[in-house]
Amino acid sequence: MVVIIVTGGAGFIGSNFIFHMLEKYPDCRIVCLDKLTYAGNLSTLASLMDNPKFRFVKLDICDREGVYKLFEEEHPDIVVNFAAESHVDRSIEAPTIFLQTNIIGTSVLMDACRKYGIKRYHQVSTDEVYGDLPLDRSDLFFTETRPLHTSSPYSSSKASADLLVLAYYRTYGLPVSISRCSNNYGPYHFPEKLIPLMIVNALADKPLPVYGKGENVRDWLYVEDHCKAIDLIIHKSRVGEVYNVGGHNEMKNIDIVKLICKELGKPESLITYVADRKGHDMRYAIDPTKIHNELGWLPETKFSDGIKKTIKWYLDNKEWWQTIISGEYKNYYEKMYGNR
Ligand code: NAD
Ligand code: TYD
Repeated sequence: MVVIIVTGGAGFIGSNFIFHMLEKYPDCRIVCLDKLTYAGNLSTLASLMDNPKFRFVKLDICDREGVYKLFEEEHPDIVVNFAAESHVDRSIEAPTIFLQTNIIGTSVLMDACRKYGIKRYHQVSTDEVYGDLPLDRSDLFFTETRPLHTSSPYSSSKASADLLVLAYYRTYGLPVSISRCSNNYGPYHFPEKLIPLMIVNALADKPLPVYGKGENVRDWLYVEDHCKAIDLIIHKSRVGEVYNVGGHNEMKNIDIVKLICKELGKPESLITYVADRKGHDMRYAIDPTKIHNELGWLPETKFSDGIKKTIKWYLDNKEWWQTIISGEYKNYYEKMYGNR
């Protein structure tokens, strides 16, 4: 039995990763470690609560004692670190928690890996560590050798963590890997990020707040494709390596918002241009050649299909996001664990 600690598994990508791994590997046990911040929603994992191959532990990755105790109990083979403060706008308002979780938390997890031994520590990073590209240079892409050049407290904290991960590889020989993925979309995406926010606002006929002129470009990848890339990396890649993950699917924000209006049959008059984000990155664009050549990874879901599937998911799972909007999801942990 392979034991995998997945941190941040009650969030968007981590939960999708847990579902992917439990379905694909009958001999794997997943231990989900999550602090359940505002972004963690335990009800996402409700269907796994009685699965003997799954354990949920409410814990902060910065809690050294708690993390060491968990490693002693579980003897993990692999750790995949999704746990992070992940929203750029929040990092602009209050950076400190980003430094705490994203940098200090990463170091605590890696110290535990050093102390107890591990086959692989995988850091889930982001293309935002490269900064941005100009809109008028469609020939430029992020490769893994591009210098880190961050814009926001969020991306700076993620870049700091990446540097630490590579330092632990070089200094201590910790078997690490890093993936730097572009913007994800899909089920269980917290409705503060562009795509889910626009879907739930449009459904309620609320204004759709587009920052600046909506010209900023992001490179969108369906979340399942990201999960498959991480699965490949932790099983097949060389250690000490960084892999960019992205699907050559660049879209302007405004085009995405218009597409969502069209799919939902809502008028574009809901679109409201609001003040731009401070330091707003213009364009992200990943060159995924390395992961394709070394590991054979290619994205499987086209954006035109993925966005339809995602919208359908939000229509079919209104309760999931309505309990977030009402704040009721915070009670789920108490309900599940209050008497345990
Ligand atoms: P998310 O905000 O949806 O989930 C983060 C999870 O981490 C939540 O469940 C939260 O409770 C948990 N968490 C936060 N602080 C914690 C702490 N101190 N200890 C334990 N758990 C904690 O984020 P996401 O979108 O799923 O992103 C997951 C990872 O992927 C992040 O590291 C992010 O930087 C990276 N990433 C995200 C995207 C994207 O488009 N969403 C793209 C590339 C990389
Ligand atoms: P977001 O989903 O926050 O991801 P990131 O900033 O990590 O790329 O935002 C995606 C893009 O959408 C980004 O250019 C900011 C923009 N945006 C809006 O225009 N309006 C919004 O309400 C949000 C949340 C984002």
